[in-house]
Amino acid sequence: MAVLELNNITKTYSGKDKPAVADLSFTLENEEIVTLLGPSGCGKTTILRMIAGFIRPDRGEIYISGEKVAGRGIMKSPEKRNIGMMFQDYALFPHLTVRQNIIFGLEKKLSREEQQERVEKLLKMVGLEGYQNQYPHQLSGGQQQRVALSRALSRNPAVVLMDEPFSSLDERMRGVMRREIREILQKSKTPAIIVSHDREDAFSLSDRLAVMQSGRIEQTGTPREIFSRPKNRFVAEFASRSNLVELSALQNTDDGQIRGHCLLGEVCLSPSCCGFNTSQECRSALLAIRPDAFEIDPEGEIKAEIIDYIYYGSFVEARLKVETSCEDITINAHLDRVPGQPGERIQLSFREESCWILTG
Ligand SMILES: Nc1ncnc2c1ncn2[C@@H]1O[C@H](COP(=O)(O)OP(=O)(O)O)[C@@H](O)[C@H]1O
Ligand SMILES: [Mg+2]
Repeated sequence: MAVLELNNITKTYSGKDKPAVADLSFTLENEEIVTLLGPSGCGKTTILRMIAGFIRPDRGEIYISGEKVAGRGIMKSPEKRNIGMMFQDYALFPHLTVRQNIIFGLEKKLSREEQQERVEKLLKMVGLEGYQNQYPHQLSGGQQQRVALSRALSRNPAVVLMDEPFSSLDERMRGVMRREIREILQKSKTPAIIVSHDREDAFSLSDRLAVMQSGRIEQTGTPREIFSRPKNRFVAEFASRSNLVELSALQNTDDGQIRGHCLLGEVCLSPSCCGFNTSQECRSALLAIRPDAFEIDPEGEIKAEIIDYIYYGSFVEARLKVETSCEDITINAHLDRVPGQPGERIQLSFREESCWILTG
């Protein structure tokens, strides 16, 4: 049984003509970690708030562990939904110690001994033994986040919801916390929905992603599927930052390959690189080429001029103008193979197995 199920959920805020969430359906399975990934304003927080019970959907139903918590005539209050929530700013009480902050999340009927036992167990799980009597301001951002997570987990919730959990952490801490949060959720066998606009957060943390745009889910899949098999233009550009080029004169070759023409020349790809059946009437499509699919290759057939680039430490992202087109392409190059200076001409090739054909 799914831990969480959303059926055809719609929510339009008063005074708005477009819904913030539009006819959205989605399920979360046991012990699964799913990230809702999408740009700011696409409706992610609204979904979390409807699951948690702070907002009533206009239409549709929400089930938690098989029980209807929102739907026609039903609207369970947040405390009756068996949900742990971790807010963007952690929402720790500054005047309470770590221990008191966690106790605040526990059931009131527990005895003092039971409470203490739970606090110790939770702090051990998040690696904060010995911090019981500290106040939030005495902790680092990552430590505060772990306290917030232990409070969210304190009642053994059916599901944990996290809204942009890494937005206030620095780059290094983000990496550490992504791994830790994943481990803690797995250890406690708690399924989670995480909301983020950051691709790296989503890819590194999730079992499955739901990529969103304008209140709708465009595609769900494993990080790998989303990254290398985007369903449409939006997912390709937003999730894998692919270069999209028009592919025309598509045809199936006698030896089972797919051939086509694009501004980078003729391409011949395996059918496993194609998201639809090319034997149907479809003469044109889009070819998604990820920035990491390109190689600087003196023998390469693509001739381009370097416009500019950005250093990212271990790799360089270069923007190029292709000779045969007025459009730019973006490539990632290994730091040891920096393509040259802006204005210089280079030659390139790309790995066809890292490409993906989608309908336009
Ligand atoms: N309380 C509100 N009243 C009116 N409009 C809102 C309210 N909260 C969010 N919105 C609008 O709903 C849309 C989705 O917002 P939100 O769910 O916060 O998106 P996200 O979390 O993906 O950034 C946005 O257009 C936002 O302006
Ligand atoms: Mg939000």
